[in-house]
Amino acid sequence: MEQIITVQGVVKRFGRGVRALDGLSLDIPAGIIYGLLGPNGAGKTTLIRILATLLSADEGVVRVAGLDVRRQAEAVRARIGLAGQYAAVDGHLTGRENIEMVGRLYGLSRRQARARTSVVLDRIGVGEAAHRQVRTYSGGMRRRVDLAASLVGRPQVLFLDEPTTGVDPASRREVWDLIRDLVDGGTTVVLTTQYLDEADQLAGLIGVINHGRLVSEGTPEQLKSHTGPAVLELSIPDSQQDAAMRALGQIAPAAYERHRGTLVLPAADGVATLQHALRALDAAAITPTDVGLHRPTLDDVFLALTRTDSIDGYLNDPAGATL
Ligand SMILES: Nc1ncnc2c1ncn2[C@@H]1O[C@H](COP(=O)(O)OP(=O)(O)O)[C@@H](O)[C@H]1O
Ligand SMILES: [Mg+2]
Repeated sequence: MEQIITVQGVVKRFGRGVRALDGLSLDIPAGIIYGLLGPNGAGKTTLIRILATLLSADEGVVRVAGLDVRRQAEAVRARIGLAGQYAAVDGHLTGRENIEMVGRLYGLSRRQARARTSVVLDRIGVGEAAHRQVRTYSGGMRRRVDLAASLVGRPQVLFLDEPTTGVDPASRREVWDLIRDLVDGGTTVVLTTQYLDEADQLAGLIGVINHGRLVSEGTPEQLKSHTGPAVLELSIPDSQQDAAMRALGQIAPAAYERHRGTLVLPAADGVATLQHALRALDAAAITPTDVGLHRPTLDDVFLALTRTDSIDGYLNDPAGATL
């Protein structure tokens, strides 16, 4: 598959102590949605800013659309669009004026900018509000205008930095639909998110980053296979922890402890796993103080990817089993 983005050994330091990117490498194929998944502070925005030529890396090589972001920054800028974590729109201009202005910055003539603005406005569904000042918009509407502005130059590659953070659930779905449409139209989208479900919904390939490094990469299915479709959490009294781990180990070797007192296991069969677990505990005369079955979160994925305290390790060294 053709790679539209290559990142090799990128290091970015801030000040003395912080290595926001710590030797990051990844390849992104053309024509997909690539999800960069990671917690706050992982380095997602730093990477997006480097890809979008707003920041330069201290070390490493970055190519976008076959161009070197450092030496051919101008040419890269002509091929990309960026919508940020904080919608960068001017509140005193109308929605339409904001988008036209960005079109002009992309080098479109006044007439072209007007025409393209109409096209993207149609697409994002701001409607009559396009003629109102942006400061009167809701957060979700601002996001959409920001997204529309990033599309006006017909980018080959679109970077979206947490496009739905702080957006209400209904607008979130609309933004998702819009992103899917774009990719159907041939754009490659790189989006960052802190939400596993968002990456799962949208991305063809997900890179998990933490502390400025790629921790894991794969399809949503591959990523979720680490946790299973659901996760079971059991609160167990302290004195019965070890016995509980042993009892659960028979049905789920990958059980682990999240906090003192909370045991977590992948629930491959959902409610059936829950029933098995309760029966196994009951046979060992253990009664959980709380039980929950939930869809895997980013936390669960991280724990599943990084845990060293699966049941095997736990049985060998129960005291060292807390993450
Ligand atoms: N301009 C900056 N000056 C100093 N530290 C920064 C700056 N930008 C980001 N950082 C630090 O770099 C790390 C990665 O930040 P960022 O890329 O914003 O993460 P994310 O977008 O994944 O939340 C964090 O520790 C953050 O505090
Ligand atoms: Mg960020």
